[in-house]
Amino acid sequence: MKKEEISIVNILETEAWKLLEQSIAYYQGQPLGTMAVCDKTQIVLNFDHCFVRDFVPSALLFLVKGRYDIVRNFLEKTLKLQPKKNQFNAYTPSKGLIPASFRILLTDGEESLEADFGEKAIARVTPVDSCLWWIIILHAYVKATKDIKFAMQPQFQQGIILIMELCLATRFDMNPTLLVPDGACMIYRRMGIYGYPLEIQSLFYAALRAARKLLICAGNEEIVTAIDNRLPLLRDHIRHYYWIDMKRLNVIYRFKSEEYGQKAVNPFNIYADSIPYNDLSVWLPKHGGYLAGNIGPSQLDIRFFSLGNLLSIICSLTNEVQSQAIMNLIEEQWDDLVGQMPMKICFPALENEEYKIFTGCDPKNIPWSYHNGGSWPVLLWFLTAAAQKTGRTNIGERAIEIAQARLSQDEWPEYYDGTSGSLIGKQARRYQTWTITGFLLAKELMQNPEYLELISFGEFDIEKDYRFCDL
Ligand code: GLC
Repeated sequence: MKKEEISIVNILETEAWKLLEQSIAYYQGQPLGTMAVCDKTQIVLNFDHCFVRDFVPSALLFLVKGRYDIVRNFLEKTLKLQPKKNQFNAYTPSKGLIPASFRILLTDGEESLEADFGEKAIARVTPVDSCLWWIIILHAYVKATKDIKFAMQPQFQQGIILIMELCLATRFDMNPTLLVPDGACMIYRRMGIYGYPLEIQSLFYAALRAARKLLICAGNEEIVTAIDNRLPLLRDHIRHYYWIDMKRLNVIYRFKSEEYGQKAVNPFNIYADSIPYNDLSVWLPKHGGYLAGNIGPSQLDIRFFSLGNLLSIICSLTNEVQSQAIMNLIEEQWDDLVGQMPMKICFPALENEEYKIFTGCDPKNIPWSYHNGGSWPVLLWFLTAAAQKTGRTNIGERAIEIAQARLSQDEWPEYYDGTSGSLIGKQARRYQTWTITGFLLAKELMQNPEYLELISFGEFDIEKDYRFCDL
């Protein structure tokens, strides 16, 4: 890089750190989290809220910079917001849930926290991902600080157990995956991802891995056994049924349907004609592959969802060959998946009738916009982390270069639109905190690969995973 290029990058990073500082929310004089948007003049609707999922890259940055207090406060205060009892009132959040977001209220000079579990959210969507992210942040905090005692406090052990009970509860279906309503994750509105969406499954897997290590105190054996039983089943289910590459596509193409009984090759009764296998067979590179977006009765959603695929690499939900194949696909289909802004939240977009039916004619989710094929700079850190994990650092470098040429000039938008990601999102907020932190974290991960340890997991091994002994 030339001298003047280096100084431009430095200015950019300094600006981003400053903005992150501005986004910090204070509660009773203590830093507590980061607001979704860091430019206060932009604040409308719930953008002064601290969203749990948006806080993840902030938390990781604070941890690598040794600013443990913010993350500790965040974990403590959100834990207090977690309901500890069921109220048996359908309109109140269930025991164990962690809110999607919270904000600081000031009434007669008194500060208090107001949580949103989805009961106030647009379309009343449930944030299943929050409780899973919460455990992952706690695990990263313990790894960074080496303060196991923090997680051993009874209220924290109880908090983890309540989340696990919610996830491992007695239920109607018999799948190792987690059954959730539509819009229960980063895609926080109707997008046809109800059932068993990949993002939730990869988060579930990472949270189970983290919980397994954090449940240190005696008396938790039953839940630990349940986690041990679930982990390999979930992993194998995803690796087999969600995987799509040319070999698998050939199997799906020749699927028989209406099979009954244990020996069915097509247990979900996927009708091959529902798969656009012509397009897929052209799009899929020889050595590429990815995890499908969703699987359910007669449904294989073949859209590529970035967060789910990248997180699966990071937490070793995919095996080594699959992880490399996903990175091959990203490299070979760069224009579709990365284009002018890393990277698309999903590909391809839903269009025409499908768009109308799946989104309910949502004007924000028109084809190639927002959640429906829009590009989200926050995904840059997931891409960089997956690139580090697979030893494909050139992919991370290439993506960072694209992002840093535009983000500051465009005032750090929430998302971009268009098939190539070249348009600033139609309704995108500027100075979106996780756009800024996604960029900063990607940079940190490239410069200090060891930071990946905070968030990544190796192949599941019952012996090695046994509690926090390998810290
Ligand atoms: C949108 C996104 C959601 C994010 C929130 C705040 O609702 O869908 O993922 O947490 O904005 O940035």
